[in-house]
Order: sequence, then C-alpha cells, then structure tokens
Amino acid sequence: MVSCAQVPYNVRSPRRIRNPGAIAAITMKTPKRIQPLVEEGLIDDVVRQLMSGKEATVYVVRCGDDIRCAKVYKEATQRSFHQAVAYQEGRRVKNSRQARAMEKGTRYGRKMAEEVWQNAEVDALYRLAAAGVRVPKPYLCFEGVLLMELVQDADGNVAPRLSDVELNRERALEFHAALLRQVVLMLCAGVIHGDLSEYNILVDEHGPVIIDLPQAIDAAGNSVAPAMLERDVTNLANFFGVFVPELLGSQYGKEIWNLYEAGLLTPDTPLTGRVVASDAPADVEAVIREIELARQEKEEQRRQQMELLA
Ligand SMILES: Nc1ncnc2c1ncn2[C@@H]1O[C@H](COP(=O)(O)OP(=O)(O)O)[C@@H](O)[C@H]1O
Ligand SMILES: [Mg+2]
Repeated sequence: MVSCAQVPYNVRSPRRIRNPGAIAAITMKTPKRIQPLVEEGLIDDVVRQLMSGKEATVYVVRCGDDIRCAKVYKEATQRSFHQAVAYQEGRRVKNSRQARAMEKGTRYGRKMAEEVWQNAEVDALYRLAAAGVRVPKPYLCFEGVLLMELVQDADGNVAPRLSDVELNRERALEFHAALLRQVVLMLCAGVIHGDLSEYNILVDEHGPVIIDLPQAIDAAGNSVAPAMLERDVTNLANFFGVFVPELLGSQYGKEIWNLYEAGLLTPDTPLTGRVVASDAPADVEAVIREIELARQEKEEQRRQQMELLA
C-alpha cells in the first residue's frame, strides 16, 4: 500500500493559503459575529472567509502566531461571556433542571437547547480527538463561534475536501480503509457522525480528516443509530465505489454495527465487508417498524430545531 506521505495527491481546485504566515499580514475587516472573540483576545485578526454554507460561515483567523479556523453558526444569538463560555466536554445537558426545561420548551429551556445545539460540535470534537480520531483540534466555542485547528496540506494550503481530490483505485482503497477505521474509532467512542460524505472530509498530508459534527449522535440507546451508521458507511462506499466497484456491494455498515452491538468492536477489529446471513427468517415487519421509528425520530429532531430557530 502506498502511504499518503510518499505520493502527494492532486487537487482539482486548489484552495490557496500558501504560506499562512505571510498571508496573515493581510487581514479583512472583522465580521460582526467574530468581534466578541477579538474583544476577548481569543482572535487577533480575520485573514479571510473560507466558505459560507447553509449552517455556517467559516473563516481563516490569526491567533497570535497561529492560523486557525473559526466556524460561525448562522443561527446563534448573542449571549454573554459567562453564559457562552460553558463550552463543555462530555455531557451535553448539565443537570436535570436543564433537561426538564428543554422538554417543557420554556424560554430558559429554549436558550439551553440552543446552547446545547451550538456546543454539540465542540463536544463531539473533544470526545473524538481524545479517542484518537482524526478531527481538527478544537479550542473553544464562544458566542456561537467554534474556534478550531485549520486543517492544512503539506504546503500550508487549506486542506482540500475529499470531493476535490483526484483519486485512483489505489488511493480510493487506501482512503476508504482509513475512513472505515475512523468510523470504527468513533463508534468505539460512542459517536456516529450522521452526515459523513466527501464534503465533510478534508485530506491533509497524512490522509482523511473528518469535520462538520453538529449533528453527531450518541450510539448507545439511540434507535436511529444503526440507520445513521449505515448511511454514513454507504456514503463512503458509493463515493469510493466509482474507483473500486466492488465496494458498492459491501456491507461494512451492518458488519460494524453487529460487532458493536455484540460488544466485540475494537479499534483494530478486522473487517470483511460481509455479514453472515442468518438462517432465521427475516422479521420484515420489525425492520419496517424500525425504519419508521427512525424517520419519526429524525422528523421530531428537525421540528424541534426549527422551533428553536423560529
Ligand atoms: N477545520 C477546518 N480546516 C479547514 N477547512 C475547514 C475546516 N472546517 C471547515 N472547513 C471548510 O469549511 C467548509 C464548511 O465547513 P463545515 O464544517 O462542513 O460546515 P457546513 O455546515 O457549512 O457544511 C468545509 O467544507 C471545509 O471546506
Ligand atoms: Mg459541511
């Protein structure tokens, strides 16, 4: 197998930040949403806007000698330093009063839920970085702005998305295997990405780096977990399947979930991409019930999010 470090990959549309140190000399006017972080001394300058999507605008920023990435969530409301500085590791809801308030939808509850949503990504990043998953190093989440490591390639350019990298069969096999390992590592840490695709994976000189985790879910005790994992893993198979057709029929998602459920999944468990067919007749109704349940649960989540943002 060829390692990423030996053979540089080609990027179809390189995204410039050659030599970030030099570029940092030219800065842009500070966007309003980043101003609080500048005032708190968390960011020195904004170098440039990197991307603007539906949910967030991403900037390249300078913090002292470091160039970092600031992701500004669009729906965030202004909050005070003391409220917002509660960027947390571990549990998303700190106590049962908060959980009850969120269930009841009180004003306090809505504020809490919004904070939980905004902090979900930084929580997941902390958890995954600690588990050894290749994610950008998180620094903090303040006033709806996530400050994290800027993923860069060997030349100091902003790392390209997987969708922008030229692939061949060999490289596709290598990246697919590396990403399945990351998915397994994440699941061993109890997390499922939930929106894994070639657009939420960057490629640095050592291989794929996973980003964009606000919708990440806890695997344990979550009825949609197997369906989410299956979708993430199928997205990978479909993307790399263009170069490696045999991946299209693989069953890595089911295999990984079966091992996880049986308590047999470790970061090093070998995978085959096949699951042994059971002799027992399939309980089709149960499968349909499960799919319907997952759909309803997702719908409910979306409805709650829309309510929060209304
Ligand atoms: N840490 C990072 N380093 C480099 N680029 C990043 C980083 N985080 C995000 N980006 C860039 O910004 C884009 C949008 O970020 P993402 O987290 O996927 O938010 P969105 O919800 O808008 O998709 C990514 O596709 C990627 O190109
Ligand atoms: Mg994204």
